[in-house]
Amino acid sequence: MSSEKTAYFRTQYEKLYSDEDYYWGLEPAPFLDELIAWTGKNSNGLKVLDVGCGEGKDAVYMAQKGCEVTAFDITKSGIRKTKKLAKTKGVKINAFVADINDFQIDDEFDVIYSTGTIQYLFKDRIEGFFAKIKQLTRIGGVVYFNVFVNKSFLELPPDWDKEETMWKTGELFLHFADWKIHKIDEVIFECHSGGIKHYHCMDTIVAERAI
Ligand SMILES: C[S@@+](CC[C@H](N)C(=O)[O-])C[C@H]1O[C@@H](n2cnc3c(N)ncnc32)[C@H](O)[C@@H]1O
Repeated sequence: MSSEKTAYFRTQYEKLYSDEDYYWGLEPAPFLDELIAWTGKNSNGLKVLDVGCGEGKDAVYMAQKGCEVTAFDITKSGIRKTKKLAKTKGVKINAFVADINDFQIDDEFDVIYSTGTIQYLFKDRIEGFFAKIKQLTRIGGVVYFNVFVNKSFLELPPDWDKEETMWKTGELFLHFADWKIHKIDEVIFECHSGGIKHYHCMDTIVAERAI
């Protein structure tokens, strides 16, 4: 892993998030309520980790539900906006800059989720990343991950970063083979990021640490 790679990612997203407008909007991801429900617990005081939180729309939504939220992203501008959004909404979040490839957190969580981010894991860090995620999840806790997967009939998205890695169908699921799987899914959807219509194929998993 070279430090240039990390700096390169940071630069791309720093730029996208540098406006005061929210690049990803403010609408939280639709899966968050269902994710809380999978824990079987009340959202109040639930410990949540958002991995690659971007500008914080999901992390702030979880905090608004009463969760105790930790969130990180590689971009300083994303974290600045996460904190700003939290302040605007009157909630507290533990948000900081960190890299998925080498983040350190000494805690445990009821919910860990990451959307649109783990394709930035370096190949040699994937095993270690999931080992860490499993350790950070409480027994009975749930995780949500999605990742873009390669399909020979789909072109690479026009704004695909050369540092992003397409995964293979099912690869994500195997990392949680020994967990209780609540949901696995693969969908193809239209996207207009970068201003050009294109398609993504995405695998998603919701899994629970049973023991
Ligand atoms: C598609 S965005 C998704 C952001 C957010 N999860 C959301 O749904 O709004 C991908 C995010 O991954 C972050 N990212 C890219 N490389 C990263 C890395 N090595 N460590 C942590 N975050 C990273 C980017 O800064 C960006 O915010």
